[in-house]
Amino acid sequence: MHLHHLRAAGVSVVLECPPGALPAILHWGPDLGPLGGDDLEHLAAELRPRSDQTVEVPIRTAIVPEARTGWMGEPGLSGHHDGGTGWSPAFTDVTCEQHGQRVVAAGGDPHSRLGLTVTVELDPSGLLRAQAELRNGHDLPYTLDALNLVFPVHGNPTELLDQAGRWSKERVPQRRALTVGTHLRENRRGRTGADAATVLFAATAGIGFRRGEAWGVHVGHSGNHRHYAERTATGRTMLGGGELLLPGEIVLAAGETYRTPWVYATYGRGLDEAAHRFHEHLRARPAHPVRPRPVVLNTWEAVYFDHDLDRLLELADRAARVGVERFVLDDGWFLGRRNDGAGLGDWYVDPAVWPDGLHPLVERVRTLGMEFGLWVEPEMVNPDSELARAHPDWMLKAGDRLPPPARRQQVLDLTDPDAYAYIKERLLALVGEYEIDFLKWDHNRDLVDAGSTAHGGRPAVHAQTEAVYRLLDELRAAHPRLEIEACSSGGARVDLGMLQHTDRVWASDCIDPVERQDILRWTAQLLPPELIGSHIGAERSHTTGRRHDLSFRAATAFFGHYGIEWDLTSLTGAELDELAAWVALHKRHRELLHTGTMVRVDDTPESVRAHGVVAADASEAVYEIAVLGRPATWPPGPVRLPGLDPETVYRVRPLMPFTSRGAAPAWASGELELPGSALAAAGIAAPPLFPEQSVLVHVEAVSTTA
Ligand code: DGJ
Repeated sequence: MHLHHLRAAGVSVVLECPPGALPAILHWGPDLGPLGGDDLEHLAAELRPRSDQTVEVPIRTAIVPEARTGWMGEPGLSGHHDGGTGWSPAFTDVTCEQHGQRVVAAGGDPHSRLGLTVTVELDPSGLLRAQAELRNGHDLPYTLDALNLVFPVHGNPTELLDQAGRWSKERVPQRRALTVGTHLRENRRGRTGADAATVLFAATAGIGFRRGEAWGVHVGHSGNHRHYAERTATGRTMLGGGELLLPGEIVLAAGETYRTPWVYATYGRGLDEAAHRFHEHLRARPAHPVRPRPVVLNTWEAVYFDHDLDRLLELADRAARVGVERFVLDDGWFLGRRNDGAGLGDWYVDPAVWPDGLHPLVERVRTLGMEFGLWVEPEMVNPDSELARAHPDWMLKAGDRLPPPARRQQVLDLTDPDAYAYIKERLLALVGEYEIDFLKWDHNRDLVDAGSTAHGGRPAVHAQTEAVYRLLDELRAAHPRLEIEACSSGGARVDLGMLQHTDRVWASDCIDPVERQDILRWTAQLLPPELIGSHIGAERSHTTGRRHDLSFRAATAFFGHYGIEWDLTSLTGAELDELAAWVALHKRHRELLHTGTMVRVDDTPESVRAHGVVAADASEAVYEIAVLGRPATWPPGPVRLPGLDPETVYRVRPLMPFTSRGAAPAWASGELELPGSALAAAGIAAPPLFPEQSVLVHVEAVSTTA
């Protein structure tokens, strides 16, 4: 039996492993039903590639495609042995085994003595993922250029959708036609990047959240990486990805191995279903945070570098008063860190600003019943620091020159065992001394010219990324209750590699709710809301200068891991009370928000956005309806509320009172009851709002129609 049929959550994957060969995917997409052996053979005969005039035999593309078959597209493995041999291996001595929903193919090429193990598994969520490990069995060193995992798309996609972005405007969707050629998204930033592709989809035309078919690929890696979609002149569409290796970065001596990151592949009838598979996969992790996500106050936009104890104590008092559960001291607490030009690397509390250490603040925070969190940027060093002066060789650089500075900082070489030991000791000491509950782990520059002096100037992005993962794991092992946030100049570290070692991401430095509507909507293509830090900022946004009502700011942040990033010492008693009401409302609903199913609404009226979360048992839901601009027609038409149980009757009401411009819709007074089928098909009247306002809508089951 050379055919393996994996099925889960509406997805089927048919893998073919003929004797000796690497596995090839014959089908990845909608569930095929429980096919018997004969049916599977018949289907395989239909799905196998045909001869395409390149060579006389059909070209088989394994999950690591081999050029030696006649495949003219991007090969899975690129590299060579010293002297130029081994550049086109033939993996003809492979054995495949299926264990449950996992297929492992192991073997090699007897001629080049390269060994390859490929693992393919279908998660209970229907998320497919693959990983490969290459072993050099030859005496000659093998220089690896690339090892990609490739997923063929067997539907008829005509469109590509992925993401771009920049600082404070991350995860901007971009669409284009899928045409013959390669759409290649390469990242050489040494971090995931604000402009990361995130998930690269090939999809049917006009793909929506709840319509069409989408096949997407995501590389779970936080260093250099690549995603690509390739369409051949022979009509084949492949989605591929892997780590992007710098020249000479991986040279395998005899017996050495290289393992790829996991490359994930999601199929969905609409982008929501494709996202749900990632969400369910993440939620099933043993380390997924399950206790209620504590409401955060982060000090950054409240005080920046002005670390004045009295001011911070007052901020803590006010944070507790509005219901905050975790107080996070951001950048500015360590030696010489009075601005962003100095101090990185000197991870000692600065006695000039904190004569009694952080203890007075930490004690007050705990007395007020809050957890304590601290900002760190362990991978970085300012040339203006004691650390850089003592160890100039601990900065990543190629040759004798330092890379151009960015935010006046350089990157600490964590592949140097001494530098690694120093930073690990510092972090463990701080976490131990202050019993820190949470680290906001920042990373504020790209890796340029990132060689390691400790390793003869060789490129070090791969090893640096592995070292960061190891450091995170060692900290968490030493302090199992410690939670860590992945932050990188805002949201430049959003990937499933990082999420294997951390507990949430900071989505963006832009907290303007208009911008956040989009940033959150598209970050959710990969992550469920409980993993996305989502804060209420000041009335006037620090990044855009726009002003917004508290109701819009609070409702926009409502669905994620809630927090506040605002100088509460400037608020009146009435403003604090209003904020406290929002925090209390979030706490009442966070279990639903953080365990339910995300819904993004297609085809809303012009300038209107809608999204929500439906409880896992469909007994209730919360939606947000936002008006972002001024539509050409008025009033806006109805807004559909999909995702509910069609046969359940729901009562619809606003979660917070809101001010209507003109006659309020009936549901605004809680008088509307309709079945889920009607709410999905027809919807409710859009609330007449000013632009840049929104309302939260609560939908609760009252009876069934059956
Ligand atoms: C960048 C982060 O995204 C911000 O939230 C803040 O922590 C600053 N760094 C501090 O330098």
